Amino acid sequence: MALKPGHVTLGESELLELVRTQPVPRHVAVIMDGNGRWATQRGLPRVAGHSEGVKSARTVVRTADTLGVGYLTLYAFSSENWSRPSEEVATLMSLLERSIHQELPELMARNIRLRVIGRAQGVPAAVKRGIDHVTDATAGNTGMTLFMAFNYGGRDELVDAFRALAGRIERGELAPAEIDEDRISRALYTGDAPDPDLLIRTSGEMRISNFLLWQIAYTELWVTSVLWPDFGPHDLYSAIAEYQRRERRFGGV
Ligand code: IPE
Ligand code: IPE
Ligand code: MG
Repeated sequence: MALKPGHVTLGESELLELVRTQPVPRHVAVIMDGNGRWATQRGLPRVAGHSEGVKSARTVVRTADTLGVGYLTLYAFSSENWSRPSEEVATLMSLLERSIHQELPELMARNIRLRVIGRAQGVPAAVKRGIDHVTDATAGNTGMTLFMAFNYGGRDELVDAFRALAGRIERGELAPAEIDEDRISRALYTGDAPDPDLLIRTSGEMRISNFLLWQIAYTELWVTSVLWPDFGPHDLYSAIAEYQRRERRFGGV
């Protein structure tokens, strides 16, 4: 249940109706956190939370697409997540490999373009093949862009962008004075996608965890205590409804 001004509690369909009365954010980014806690609370191994989390990811893709969100970025595996126990890392890798294949028919039916953002280096070959296959198959789709952040680090992304720009300078294609915000943005993994309007983090942590550091300069933040496997359409509608009530100022008055 969510609150709207005047503290009237809204159900899912009323909330959806409300969300539909105003423009939806063009780009929504999500830090999908809390799978481990969800499982631990149920006396299950952490990996059970990751399996359940895949279902929430599928639902959020469908819901965002149906609402007309243009870009959805999901944080699936960070460059720091390699430090977890090896069995957990292996499970996350095989879950990604399996689900990316399973989702291909629906991505095609929904005209969704998948792009994986992060470093390819270090990703197991089988996972990389799956990513390449689905990325190529959906490359011509013209509907929502789904960015899956996998082996992603915001600082890695900046390092890679700086290296790319420095390479262009070295080759005489670019002068240092020509580096501006726009060129830096375009050198990032997200390329010419607009910056996120709304960043959602589940499971209550008040931190960014190395996600989209450059792109979220003026993004609206929304944190919920809901654990990722419990996140559903109602939660996405609540986040968007609150976003629609906010006044974005971008430093102005
Ligand atoms: C998010 O859930 C999934 C990944 C980071 C891969 P966690 O696994 O971080 O779950 P918690 O935060 O330990 O509950
Ligand atoms: C952020 O969650 C990364 C993903 C959701 C993939 P973490 O669970 O890794 O973040 P911290 O460790 O709590 O900052
Ligand atoms: Mg976590």
